[in-house]
Amino acid sequence: MKFFIDTANLAQIKEANELGILDGVTTNPSLMAKEGIKGTEAIMNHYKTICEMVDGDISAEVIATDFNGIVEEGKKLAAIHPNIVVKVPMIKDGIKAIKWFTDNGIRTNCTLVFSAGQAILCAKAGATYVSPFIGRIDDSGWDGVQLIEQIAHIYAIQGFKTQVLAASIRNANHIIRCAEVGAHVCTCPLDSIMGLLKHPLTDIGLAKFLEDAKKM
Ligand code: E4P
Repeated sequence: MKFFIDTANLAQIKEANELGILDGVTTNPSLMAKEGIKGTEAIMNHYKTICEMVDGDISAEVIATDFNGIVEEGKKLAAIHPNIVVKVPMIKDGIKAIKWFTDNGIRTNCTLVFSAGQAILCAKAGATYVSPFIGRIDDSGWDGVQLIEQIAHIYAIQGFKTQVLAASIRNANHIIRCAEVGAHVCTCPLDSIMGLLKHPLTDIGLAKFLEDAKKM
């Protein structure tokens, strides 16, 4: 399973990248706005900086919601760096645009996916990644990981090449459960990745080893 970090914060991207386990980055307009990135030039430069920091797929999201607008914006984003993956919302024109990008050699990540039916459409259009938002599904009283399992199962039996990218991860347990049910990628906040490191018995065990090391 690949690990992406879900942020536009350069310090967090650097910290995760230095662990040596990072395979890519996902961003979205909310994450970019949180970092105060404003205006087309600043947005493009920020994506370029991330591409230069991390050797992996970097998702950059379009703002347009009509076919022509999505295609034009996606072409500009894809031209920033070969590692850019154009993130497109799960809407009718989004699916049409994903098919256009597929036919024209531009890789895509279909975002805001909340059902298996939507995931089937993404795969049929040739999306590189499908992003089901599991945390938001949990928040609405359903089981996000169950959706990941369902989509992974459908893709496997149908031979779809689209990779299941579990998004809206809220904690380390989400990552473990997504790995269990066959997600190809998890995109996670830094604290969820760091949460995988933690176990109280590790801390207790290390303290004891360090204490005993003084007697060696
Ligand atoms: C996916 O790529 C999105 O950026 C993200 O995972 C959304 O997560 P949220 O529900 O925490 O906003």
